[in-house]
Amino acid sequence: MKNIAVLASGRGTNLQAIIENTENGTLKANLVCVISDREDAKALERARQHNVKAIYLDPGPKKTWLIPEIEEKYVQTLKDHNVDLICLAGFMRIIKKPLLDAFAGKIINIHPSLLPSFPGLDVQKKAIDWGVKFSGCTVHFVDDTVDGGPIIVQAAVPILDDDTPEKLAERILKEEWRIYTEAINLVLSGKYRIEGRRVIKTG
Ligand code: GRF
Repeated sequence: MKNIAVLASGRGTNLQAIIENTENGTLKANLVCVISDREDAKALERARQHNVKAIYLDPGPKKTWLIPEIEEKYVQTLKDHNVDLICLAGFMRIIKKPLLDAFAGKIINIHPSLLPSFPGLDVQKKAIDWGVKFSGCTVHFVDDTVDGGPIIVQAAVPILDDDTPEKLAERILKEEWRIYTEAINLVLSGKYRIEGRRVIKTG
């Protein structure tokens, strides 16, 4: 089985789903470590509760990204754990060259909208305010654009007339927990090819 690592900054419900799905065999991967840029991230606590290695790595001076020397430390830690695939799950920093070069094509992210609609932050509110009738979630490869890499799996979620960002986020999350496992299994199986921006299953 291949090794995955999860990078998370917050409460870690996607991490929780990944942990549970590795435990019940739905997700065919070894979760070798969880890394956070926040010492108090609930995600780290969830990892520890399931005997998964939880690592806090000082994020350095910047708020939304890691300076190269710091990002190199992330790279080294991931290499030390023989990580085959990095799964970002609510990791609140833009990934830059050191990581992208060291793990080219091996970093994926989950985002709570149907990309390319609504990249960035507060996207459940943006989707409601725009008036779209469907939103959802997307798992995509990470490249040097924000939320812009090739799409692996998506799921649509209807927006209801009386929706609030919180209620919509909750319904989208349920789909996130499901499709992240599906996407990780696909990427680890290697049964896909990328044509332009398209991720096409080959298995
Ligand atoms: C999720 O909505 C994910 O799509 C986004 O950040 C949120 C993380 O939630 N990137 P959690 O920490 O996994 O609960």
